[in-house]
Amino acid sequence: MTNERPTTVRLQKMSWAFTESAVLFAAIQSGFFTAVSTHGESSQAIADAMGITDANAQRMIVALLTMDLIEPDGEGFRNAPDVERFLVENTRSYAGRWISWFHHQWENWGKLGDRLQNKGPEQTLGFYNEGFTVEHARRYHQATSSVGLGAARKFLAEVDLSGRHKLLDLGGGSGAYSIEAAKKYPELQAVVLDLAEVVVISREFISEHGVEDRVSAEKCDFTSDPFPDGADVILMNSNLPQYSGEVIAQVVQKAYDALVPGGEMHICGEMINEDWHGPLIPAMCAIHGVLFNSTALPHRPSECIGYFEAAGFVDVSVREFIPDILQHITGRKPKI
Ligand SMILES: C[S@@+](CC[C@H](N)C(=O)[O-])C[C@H]1O[C@@H](n2cnc3c(N)ncnc32)[C@H](O)[C@@H]1O
Repeated sequence: MTNERPTTVRLQKMSWAFTESAVLFAAIQSGFFTAVSTHGESSQAIADAMGITDANAQRMIVALLTMDLIEPDGEGFRNAPDVERFLVENTRSYAGRWISWFHHQWENWGKLGDRLQNKGPEQTLGFYNEGFTVEHARRYHQATSSVGLGAARKFLAEVDLSGRHKLLDLGGGSGAYSIEAAKKYPELQAVVLDLAEVVVISREFISEHGVEDRVSAEKCDFTSDPFPDGADVILMNSNLPQYSGEVIAQVVQKAYDALVPGGEMHICGEMINEDWHGPLIPAMCAIHGVLFNSTALPHRPSECIGYFEAAGFVDVSVREFIPDILQHITGRKPKI
């Protein structure tokens, strides 16, 4: 803490923060970064490639330079390295669908102040109850898979599943983790468990990746339905902050009971720091509880360890998976 007299500058900047999201969404939606990549030699060249006015190209260029999303390059401009890798269309690493996914929640976030007055009752499924259709699920998982497949490969580089035979992927969505696991381990069978609207889409992804002989998708609400037995690995990734501790503890207990002795469970989830101070994305994820009237709450690593140990897991540990976004907790069911 300094003794400097506070000013409104930090607060003013924060009140403008939504404009940064707006500019990022607009740049992705309009293919601006693709135009910078292919026609970055001048604002006019970018404008011509996009069919927009030079004035609008200049306005976007100033905003994007300020946000460090593009950089000066001689007389023209180039994308920052992460933008070039993930936000230029028609590349294998394109992740624009995920990075712009939350645009559809724009209006809901605008009502956050009003919704704070809600007094419940809260619905367990929250967001997933509100008009979740097959088409919505398809768009959702086209977005999640653009980052999920890479995350799954990273997970499998860190976790050795040799000798495992049956994996359950709770809330598996696009099936990214199951698909990559089946590709890596020819002996492994995987079952993606997800909501009815989603399994239609999971099956599309499974078939697209040619692993339908070993990966299936079944309808299951993991908060209320029983799990198939015989699994020696259970995953539940990117679902933690949509539910309260009570719900997660029940799911972890159900997973423990379904696992064969010696089996293992992994959750890669958005956790907040022990002191409640960040990181930003896990902190904001739990706001779903206000926006969608759900039980969503933030979870700390120590709380997650508590859910695992209360269920009976041993060798429980938490480590960073995706910095500032996902922590990885794992535990093992004892052999006897
Ligand atoms: C953010 S996506 C993550 C998908 C996948 N695990 C991954 O990491 O790529 C969350 C998924 O969990 C599913 N899900 C959320 N709540 C669920 C529930 N109660 N039962 C089954 N699936 C659920 C959603 O439908 C969605 O497909």
